[in-house]
Amino acid sequence: MTIGKVGVLGCGLMGAGIAEVCAKAGHSTVIREVDKKFLEQGMARIEKSLGKAVDKGKLNAEERDEALSRISGTTELEPLADCDLVIEAIIESLQEKVETFAALDKTVQETALFASNTSSLTITQIAMATQRTERFVGLHFFNPVPVMKLVEVVRTLMTSDETMQRALDFVSGLGKEGVSCRDNSGFIVNRLLVPYLLDAIRALDEGVGSIEDIDKAMQLGCGYPMGPLTLLDFVGLDTTYYIANIMFEEYREKRFAPPPLLKQMVQAGRCGRKSGRGFYEYG
Ligand code: 3HC
Repeated sequence: MTIGKVGVLGCGLMGAGIAEVCAKAGHSTVIREVDKKFLEQGMARIEKSLGKAVDKGKLNAEERDEALSRISGTTELEPLADCDLVIEAIIESLQEKVETFAALDKTVQETALFASNTSSLTITQIAMATQRTERFVGLHFFNPVPVMKLVEVVRTLMTSDETMQRALDFVSGLGKEGVSCRDNSGFIVNRLLVPYLLDAIRALDEGVGSIEDIDKAMQLGCGYPMGPLTLLDFVGLDTTYYIANIMFEEYREKRFAPPPLLKQMVQAGRCGRKSGRGFYEYG
């Protein structure tokens, strides 16, 4: 059973990116937002990103228009009823996710797969809100979604082999690479990335090097596209703080404990690019 129509819940940074790659890959894509204003903002985000892809020579104007024509928006759940897959990318609130999936479970056809793009909650606790736990996976995309090649396909104790295969096939159909992983907090990437980012803050705090030199060291010394402090600004310090707290609670290991400087920067509103200031200032 191949996946045709896709529903995307949430049209923020991640949801918009996910809807864009689905539509580019030929899927009829319906985005559901809670508010018309958010829907319009999300559509504008997608148009801007598709425009960028045209500017970069990744897409021609016709392909951009075709992708846009495959996307529709709604503030209701009913238009998602005949989807083959619904990917959730709403705010990182367990309660919101559980309520949304419980309602969705009653609306969307029984054969459809459900997926969450959560980066911090476990898939298990979200899946339990539905009667289709064997057809529930994590599909964890990376920012910026149209560019990053990886999707983590997360399996719970309840996910069936068939669901995993369908999810992995769907991911390769998007032109991305899937990796299978267990539903442990942070999955593979954040489990390794978060301690590294937190350590970069500790190194800065201990005066090992300046912001610029720590970034330059990792960029040029290890071939990373961005230094860790630039990446923190990119991902969002508030987001990283939130994820680190959840991982620390789960594992009780020092390497996941958010350093005081991170907490203070979040409290001071220095959340990175999105707030105009993090480790660097943005115009
Ligand atoms: N659509 C399609 N392709 C696009 C595009 C778009 N909208 N925008 C850019 N591209 C392509 C470009 O054509 C280029 O491809 P090429 O190398 O084949 O020519 C490539 O993407 C890079 O684009 P740019 O040259 O414009 O940008 P940079 O070279 O400055 O790279 C970056 C920007 C991709 C963000 C790079 O700095 C990078 O990879 N940074 C690290 C990002 C990262 O680590 N993300 C993961 C964050 S962690 C996360 O998301 C998990 C969460 O749970 C916290």
